[in-house]
Amino acid sequence: MRRSLVVGNWKMNGTLASAEALAKGVIAGLSPSSADAAICAPYVFLPKLQDLVKGTNLALGAQNVADKESGAFTGEISAAMLSEVGCKYAIVGHSERRTYYGDTNESVAARFCQALSKGVIPILCIGETLEQREQDQTFAVIDEQLAAVINAAGIAAFAGAVIAYEPVWAIGTGKTATDEQAQEVHHYIRQYLAAKDQTIADNMQILYGGSAKPDNAKGLFAMPDIDGGLIGGASLDADSFLKICHSV
Ligand code: 13P
Repeated sequence: MRRSLVVGNWKMNGTLASAEALAKGVIAGLSPSSADAAICAPYVFLPKLQDLVKGTNLALGAQNVADKESGAFTGEISAAMLSEVGCKYAIVGHSERRTYYGDTNESVAARFCQALSKGVIPILCIGETLEQREQDQTFAVIDEQLAAVINAAGIAAFAGAVIAYEPVWAIGTGKTATDEQAQEVHHYIRQYLAAKDQTIADNMQILYGGSAKPDNAKGLFAMPDIDGGLIGGASLDADSFLKICHSV
């Protein structure tokens, strides 16, 4: 039985004070019946949040990780550094990184491997743009994004990873995929993995991301291949995020 997981991606929002207040609010509202929960916070807030989440049910994550181990890579943050500040997870390949900062399938695969090598669970984001969906390329895009990482890391590595399906057209647009649209792609992803390793496919947590909100989370999470969510905007408010955590 796969456990449900709800992850907040705070993106580039907040202040140290608001981040602490938000984390405290989330911690106070989690209950044993909630999904497993994590927050991916801006790097500079992580040390403070590490202290706050210690001994609680809330896990910590980062929004990216370097594609190299260490060295002269100005501005990058390594997987070892993330591990040191208590990160259980690191998002890799978010569409905003791919679109605005030049992440490629290859560099995403390298980030994925770096995270794993230091015991940080990569949350691999994949998904198509509106144009790609309209041209019936959704599955081809998913194939390509998954294949790049499987080729670099090997299918066995996915036992220590999470996948997030985030249709780019649904991110921050208020336009959520319908339960059926999301399920169709989640099922496709699981079948793709199953062709390589059935056990990995059966155990893989596949999260949905893209305008997930308290009022649509229940329907999405009820789908057989949707194991939780990667939540942007709605994770910036403790009540909304908690409602989503309680929707499983
Ligand atoms: P929104 O929930 O704001 O659409 O963002 C989704 C996302 O990008 C999570 O990584």
